[in-house]
Formats: sequence, structure tokens, C-alpha cells
Amino acid sequence: MAVVLVTGGAGYVGSHACKALARAGHTPVCVDNLRTGWRDLAAFGPFEQVDLMDAGALENVFGKYKPDAVMHFAALSLVGESVARPDLYHRVNITGSLNLLDAMRAHGVAPIVFSSTCAIYGEAGDEDLTEDRPMAPESPYGASKLAVERILSDYEAAFGLRCAALRYFNVAGADPEAEIGERHDPETHLIPITIEVALGERENLSVFGKDYPTPDGTCVRDYVHVADLIDAHILALDKLMAGESGIRVNIGAGRGYSVAEVAEAVARVSGKPVATVDAPRRAGDPPRLVADHSRATAVLGWTPTRSALDVIIEDALRWRVSPRFAA
Ligand SMILES: NC(=O)c1ccc[n+]([C@@H]2O[C@H](COP(=O)([O-])OP(=O)(O)OC[C@H]3O[C@@H](n4cnc5c(N)ncnc54)[C@H](O)[C@@H]3O)[C@@H](O)[C@H]2O)c1
Repeated sequence: MAVVLVTGGAGYVGSHACKALARAGHTPVCVDNLRTGWRDLAAFGPFEQVDLMDAGALENVFGKYKPDAVMHFAALSLVGESVARPDLYHRVNITGSLNLLDAMRAHGVAPIVFSSTCAIYGEAGDEDLTEDRPMAPESPYGASKLAVERILSDYEAAFGLRCAALRYFNVAGADPEAEIGERHDPETHLIPITIEVALGERENLSVFGKDYPTPDGTCVRDYVHVADLIDAHILALDKLMAGESGIRVNIGAGRGYSVAEVAEAVARVSGKPVATVDAPRRAGDPPRLVADHSRATAVLGWTPTRSALDVIIEDALRWRVSPRFAA
């Protein structure tokens, strides 16, 4: 069983990883500065409040826990904010990752699973995105993630690092036991916002653009259940621990849903109406982003099992109304 240093383990995705690692018998050591994370979500192992920008403090954590592997979730990840603050996004996402990789080198730790994103790809058109698509990120956020992927490849070649970069599509849903879930402030993700409308906590859902070249005119995205996403992390970790490296795969459900379909599904699952208002298109929103995940299936043996839209919404809703959400 391994000691796994989990950066960003107090955030949405990282907390689910810690729970799954602990359940699999590993020891997750959560390293988080709590900028967008929550102390109560970091409930599955030791917690260290450390900023990745503080190389010395990070070094001490490596010395204290002697991890066998790393899962690296910590990042700034709001696309809009990254356009206004490219300085901040490049500094935190790239320098923070470099500090982490150098601590790994210094302590002889090779395996790392990295949270990458479909935002590293360029315009997709109507096709499902494969890993061979040209890289052309449209935001500083996507550019910072692509830069880290490049650094990881260079460290694999030069220093024997072993990396799996998992390119997430839209992560959604919550722990099926509703012990942990998504708690972003501000919330920018479609499904939790739509749930807030159904619960009467928001007046309506803004639909940004109804004239896209999609079947109902609204944007289409690929929603992957956080539990499925974490399964991919555990599979990737096992491969890296067994000596594999150079894993670069899309993690998406392989099925797209439009904004209008999400609104209908939330109304159906919750039994409450979802009022929508039309709003202009947002700059940089591509019409359709859907994963071809066949490489993840071939390389990791991964297939999503909880990513049907209604299941995602049922789990997200159960978490949203649980007393733990407000804790
Ligand atoms: N949620 C999605 O749909 C999605 C999609 C694609 C990629 N990702 C990536 O997955 C990862 C996790 O996303 P999330 O939705 O859980 O975000 P999140 O904001 O909930 O979690 C990120 C965590 O990292 C911590 N953190 C940020 N900067 C830090 C620093 N300098 N030092 C230490 N800790 C720091 C935050 O406090 C937070 O707990 C991110 O890297 C994100 O870019 C997420």
C-alpha cells in the first residue's frame, strides 16, 4: 500500500481522490493552501496547509511523509479569471508544478498523476476529440496546463519521472454516499448552478447562446462523473507504480449533452421547474466539446459506469441538499 501525496486534496476532485485512495488501503496526504478548497473535505488522511509556491514547506512535507507517488490536482482553474490574470495563472500553475516536480526528484519519487484538461485542444468542430488533435489552448488556463504537460514530458525523458496526464472534460456529480461533493465559490459549473435554480436559490439559468450549430442551438459538453474520473486516477496510479509512463488520455464520458438538455434533466430529476433566460454567447465558448475516450479504455482499461446524465444529477442533488454541503 502506498503513501500518496495529493495536492489540492481539499478541493472538489482531489477530495474524492483522497476518499478513494483511503478506501483502496493507501494513505493520502493532502497538501492544500485552501484558496478554493475546504478543510472539512480533507477528511481521509493527514492534512498539511501548504502553498505549492512555498518550495521549502513542500520539501518538508516530502521529508515528513516520504510519499511513494503524487496526484497533482492543485491549480487555479477559472477560465474567465485566467484571461484577466494570466500572470497569476501561469505563475501558480507552472511554478507550483515545477516546485512539486523538483521535490519529487530530490526525494526519488517518480509516479505522478496530473489533472490536465480538454482546454489544451483547439477548436473541435463536430468531431469527438482524440488525443491527436492539435494543441491550441484558447485561454491562459489551458495554456498553463499545456505547459505543465510539456514539462512533465521533459522530466520523463531527462529524470525518469513517470507521468499520467488525464485530460478531463466537464467533471460533475458527487460522492454517491454524499459525504463530499462540489462546493465552489463562486460556482461556475453548469450542473450545480442549474440545481441551485431548481432549489430556488437562484432566479434563473442564463443560457449563453441559442444559435450554435448544435441540434437545439445550445452548447454541447461532455459530463463525466467524478467517481468515474477517480476510477481513472486509481487505474493510472497502478500503471505508474508498475513502471509504466507517458500516459496521456482523455477522460470524458464520450457522450455530449446540450445546455437545454441539462436544464430539462435537472427539472426531471428534481421534480422542480428550471427557469432559463437567453443571454448572448460568451467569447471562447466552442459549440461542442465531446471526448473520444477510446485511448483511456485501451491504455487504462477504463470505462465510465456512473456518467449517465440523470445519475450525475441525482448524486449532485443528494450532496447539494445534505447537511454536509452547508457544513
Ligand atoms: N472540475 C472540472 O470540471 C475540471 C475540468 C478539467 C480540469 N480540472 C482540473 O482538475 C483539478 C481540480 O479541479 P477542482 O474542480 O477540484 O478545483 P478546486 O478549486 O475545487 O480544487 C483545487 C484545489 O487546489 C488548491 N490549490 C490551488 N492553488 C494551490 C496552491 N498554490 N497550493 C496548494 N493548493 C492549491 C485549492 O485550494 C483547491 O483545494 C484542477 O487542476 C483543475 O484545473 C477540473
